[in-house]
Amino acid sequence: MLKSHSCGAVRKEHIGCNVTLGGWVHRRRDHGGLVFVDLRDSEGIVQVVFDPQISSMAHELANELRNEYVIQVTGEVVQRPPSTENPKLATGDVEVIAQHVTILNPSLEPPFYINEDVEVAESLCLRYRYLHLRRPRMRDNILLRHRVIKFIRDFLDAKGFVEIETPILIKSTPEGARDYLVPSRLHPGKFYALPQSPQQLKQLLMVAGFERYFQIARCFRDEDLRADRQPEFTQLDLEMSFVDEDDILNLLEELFTSLVKAVKPEMRLLMPLPRLSYAEVMERYGTDKPDVRFGLEIRDLSDIAAQSEFAIFCSTIQAGGKVKGICVPGCANYSRQQLDELIELAKSYGAEGLITIALSGRAGSSLEQLTLGEVKSVVTKYLTLEQAIAIAQRLEAKLGDLILIVAGKPKLADKVLSELRCEMGYRLGLADPNLLAFVFVVDYPLLEWDEGTHRWEPMHHPFTAPRQEDMPLLDVDPTKVHARHYDVVCNGCELSSGSIRIHTRELQEKIFRLLGYGEEEMKERFGHILEALEYGAPPHGGIAPGIDRLVMLLAGEKNIRDVIAFPKNQSATDLMSDAPSTVSEEQLKELHLKLKEENLE
Ligand code: AMO
Repeated sequence: MLKSHSCGAVRKEHIGCNVTLGGWVHRRRDHGGLVFVDLRDSEGIVQVVFDPQISSMAHELANELRNEYVIQVTGEVVQRPPSTENPKLATGDVEVIAQHVTILNPSLEPPFYINEDVEVAESLCLRYRYLHLRRPRMRDNILLRHRVIKFIRDFLDAKGFVEIETPILIKSTPEGARDYLVPSRLHPGKFYALPQSPQQLKQLLMVAGFERYFQIARCFRDEDLRADRQPEFTQLDLEMSFVDEDDILNLLEELFTSLVKAVKPEMRLLMPLPRLSYAEVMERYGTDKPDVRFGLEIRDLSDIAAQSEFAIFCSTIQAGGKVKGICVPGCANYSRQQLDELIELAKSYGAEGLITIALSGRAGSSLEQLTLGEVKSVVTKYLTLEQAIAIAQRLEAKLGDLILIVAGKPKLADKVLSELRCEMGYRLGLADPNLLAFVFVVDYPLLEWDEGTHRWEPMHHPFTAPRQEDMPLLDVDPTKVHARHYDVVCNGCELSSGSIRIHTRELQEKIFRLLGYGEEEMKERFGHILEALEYGAPPHGGIAPGIDRLVMLLAGEKNIRDVIAFPKNQSATDLMSDAPSTVSEEQLKELHLKLKEENLE
């Protein structure tokens, strides 16, 4: 080794020792006679002092050092002079007095500061990812990711799970997104798909008799990117045989709680992890990915609104719509401009408008003391005092609060209020950043009707089993059939989906038919799995938490890009290597491909 110690490992017990360190110049300060260098390596930072009295040669060379030079330093570890200790550094009690320094490699001036966590344009971060990863925050995120994956592997190993790799070149698996395709050289005109998940393969592993499988699986989906979506991402994919829903959820509960304890003990959890039905979360939060760290729950006001004389409320309800609202505490004094901003926000989520009702009376006074004059809203003149009080009571509002109401189609009203709820919750600082509010959402519908394609679509994927008691409804009223499907949500982010699977050919074919697959297509696309189900497939189920999203939440980041070493940008480009890129005519020819001129940029 070119070093005797890591920079971040030097401590008081090394005082008096001679050490050789290697690392990057994190910061250099020239204090007249003395030059101070914060030397950084993968384990941390230590201060090195270049004193001309100790070594004039080392001191002279120290003047040439610039940020990010790679150097090797030999020197003695000493106690820092009183009152110069740095409690922010693990090595802050000591410093190294340099006797000898070698420049192992100079560095060009980096395009952004490594030693300050100031905002940098995304394009620069990604173009120079290897420099961005040098930033302590990014390094900590990647180390956290390592610890999370290591913990998961050890945890599942101790529970008898076997890690099995599955192929990357596969036949397309429908998971709702577009496939990445790979043309075959040996089979002209044929393509492999990159797995959107190892769904079918893990089910086949259950048929093969591995009763407890897991994999840290790379998945690929060609879909619109967002803060929590990358075209390639990682799942903890797992599957178990002879289980029901509780077995999977209990396992996950134990995994998540012990993981958080091990890697982020300062973070709190809601215990026991709540299990809420899909119907309940939709009703209370307007979404199946609720952030339950705060209230501001949605309430249906349609029955009260129908009694009012406000035409929009009445016509919406007559047309089968809903009038729903939330109460935002302490915001009755919002200015006209602030209210207009909220209205614009609601419109940006698709609402036709937003009704605001400020309960402007003395904050804290009881609702009984409310007068109509204190109800500040465009709808006041269409409401009786009793109706205003009834709305406030339904929302558990107090004087001083602001009520936000949306009238519209049920799905739209829920969506808009769910977005407004989060916006206001975050704005008011109601979401505790140290709380991880995991929620299990259960009892999903099996199918939803797609107005665009005029087909039933699975809420999850076509391998999800319907609830046994709902089976007779499959033929008469598929909307009413519940799935044996569960989701794990945390702080408003969908973390995992999973289900108990169909394990007989008969039922699987029935579901495929309901989804509109003809006999030929079914055989062509799913023949292998249908066949396998006839060779003693055990009852089985599983789940797949997204590792990137999990680490993002644990790291307190807002974008999964910040916990992935080499992510793609919003348009799925790797800015560092410039992928995707063109390939040679020769390569295209080998793959039997010809590009159409008009499609080229
Ligand atoms: P699903 O499609 O719900 O289920 O995916 C499971 C989890 O994977 C993560 N995830 C993503 N993370 C980052 N970028 C993406 N583009 C992306 N897409 C999904 C999410 C999500 O909850 N085979 C089933 C699981 C099963 O039934 O066992 C599946 O893949 O955290």
